[in-house]
Amino acid sequence: MIITIVGGGSTFTPGIVKSIALREKDLEATEVRLFDIDEERQNKVAVVVDYILKELNSNIKLTVTTDKETAYKDASFIFAQMRVGKYAMREMDEKIPLKHGCVGQETCGCGGLAYGLRTIFPMMEVIDDVEKYAAKDHWILNYSNPAAVVSEACRVLRPNARIINICDMPIAILEMIGKCLGDVDYLKMDYKYFGLNHFGWFTEITYEGRDIIKEVREYLNEVGTLMPRQYVEAMKKNPFKEGERHASQSWIKVWNNMKTMMDLFPDYLPNTYLQYYLLSKDVVEHSDAEWTRANEVMMSREKNLFEGVDHYLKTGEITKDAFYHGAHGNFIADLAVSIKNDLKQKFIVIEPNNGNIPNIDDDVMVELPALMGKNGAEVIKIDAIPTFHKGLMEQQVASEKLLVEGAIEGSYAKVLQSFAMNKTVPSALIAKDILDDMIEANKEFWPELK
Ligand code: NAD
Ligand code: G6P
Ligand code: MN
Repeated sequence: MIITIVGGGSTFTPGIVKSIALREKDLEATEVRLFDIDEERQNKVAVVVDYILKELNSNIKLTVTTDKETAYKDASFIFAQMRVGKYAMREMDEKIPLKHGCVGQETCGCGGLAYGLRTIFPMMEVIDDVEKYAAKDHWILNYSNPAAVVSEACRVLRPNARIINICDMPIAILEMIGKCLGDVDYLKMDYKYFGLNHFGWFTEITYEGRDIIKEVREYLNEVGTLMPRQYVEAMKKNPFKEGERHASQSWIKVWNNMKTMMDLFPDYLPNTYLQYYLLSKDVVEHSDAEWTRANEVMMSREKNLFEGVDHYLKTGEITKDAFYHGAHGNFIADLAVSIKNDLKQKFIVIEPNNGNIPNIDDDVMVELPALMGKNGAEVIKIDAIPTFHKGLMEQQVASEKLLVEGAIEGSYAKVLQSFAMNKTVPSALIAKDILDDMIEANKEFWPELK
C-alpha cells in the first residue's frame, strides 16, 4: 500500500507522515512517497520525515522524488497539500486586499480567489497524472487550498476524478472546544454540520448527553474567547510560537471573534472563517497590512522546521518545535483508514450537494458529514436550512462559481464579477482595483484573462 504526498515540502508533511506511521497496520502501509516541484525544500523536509519513521521503528519505505511516474506508480492514496506560489504568494493574497481596505486572508475574500486562480489548473494536472499512473481504485484526499474553489473546479472539469476534498477546521474547532471544556474528548463528540468550505455551522454538538453548543455559549460568556484558559494565561506572558496549532498571535483574534459571532447569532456555532464575511470591517481594522499571517508562519512554523532540520543534522536531536503533529495529520490518516477498510466512519467532507441540503442547488459543492468507505462518500442528508444561512451561502457560491468559470474561459469580466460578488468587498470599483493588482502579482501563475 503506497501513499504519495503531493506537496512533500509542506510544513505539514512531518505531522502527516507521523499519523500515517502510527496507523501503519490499519493502512497496511509499505511505502510513503514525497512528491514536490521544489526539490531543495522537499529534501529538507524529508530529513525530518526519515527521522520520524526511524523513531517509530516503522517498516515504511521512504521515497523522495520530483518525478511524476516515480511518485504515483501504483499508489493507492494520494494526499495532496500543495501551495501553488508558496508563502511568497500567500503574502500577496493577504496584503493586496488589505491595501484596498478589504479582508486579507489566504482562503477567504479576494486573497482566496487569487489563490484559487493559481491552484485550479495545477490541481487538474495532479488528477490527470494520478489517473495515468496510480492504482485504478486510488483515492486522492485533498487538503490543497482554497478547498472551496478547488472542489468546484474538480466538479466542473474532472467530475469522475476519485478525489475527496477535505478541511481540518471543523475538527480543529471541536478539538479547541474539548480543550476549553477540559473534560470532553473531541473525537467522541457527535455533531451536525452544514455549509461550504470555510463557510459553515455546527447546528448540534453532543457528548455523553450534554449539549456542547450550550456549554460553549456559557464558556464564551465567562472567558470571552474560545481558547482554553491556560492558553490565555500563557499567551499573556509569551505568545505561542506555533508549538500549538491554531494558537499563535493572529489566531487569538480568530477565537475572540467566535464570541462576537455567537453573541450576534447564538443558534449555531459558526466555522471560524465566517468572521471574514460577517465581521469584515472589524477584521480589517484589526489587521496590519505590513505583517500578516504569512509573515507569522514564515517566522515560526517554517523557520522552526528548517532550523530543526539543521539542528538535527548537526546534533542528531529533534527539537520540540521542529514540527507539529495532531488533528491535521490524524484527520487525513483516519479518513484513509476508514476508506481502505470500508469502515463507513463519519467525516466532514466537501461533495456535490445533490439534494443533501434540500433547498440548495444540486450543483453546489457543500461541506457535510458523510460516511466514508471504499466507494467514497455517503453524504448524510439534512433538512432545509434557514434563509439567513442559505442567502449567505448562495452569495459565496456565486462568487466561487464565477471564479471557476472565469478561469476556464479566461474571462476578465467573470473574474471581476466573482470579486465584486464577494461579501468581503464593499464596492465593484474596489473589486476592480484589487483584481488589477492581483493580475500583476500573479503573472507567473494565472491563466490569461481577456
Ligand atoms: P508550504 O508552502 O509549506 O508547502 C506547500 C508545498 O507545495 C511546497 O513545498 C511547494 O513547493 C509545493 N508545491 C507548490 N506547487 C506544487 C505543484 N504544482 N506540485 C507539487 N507541489 C507543489 O504550505 P503549507 O502551509 O504547509 O500548506 C500546504 C497546503 O495545505 C496549502 O495548500 C494549505 O492551504 C493546505 N492546508 C489545508 C488545510 C485544510 O483544511 N484544507 C489545512 C492546512 C493546510
Ligand atoms: C485551518 C484551515 C486550513 C488553513 C489553515 C491555515 O486549518 O482549515 O484550510 O490552511 O488553517 O493555517 P496557518 O497556520 O497556515 O495559518
Ligand atoms: Mn481548511
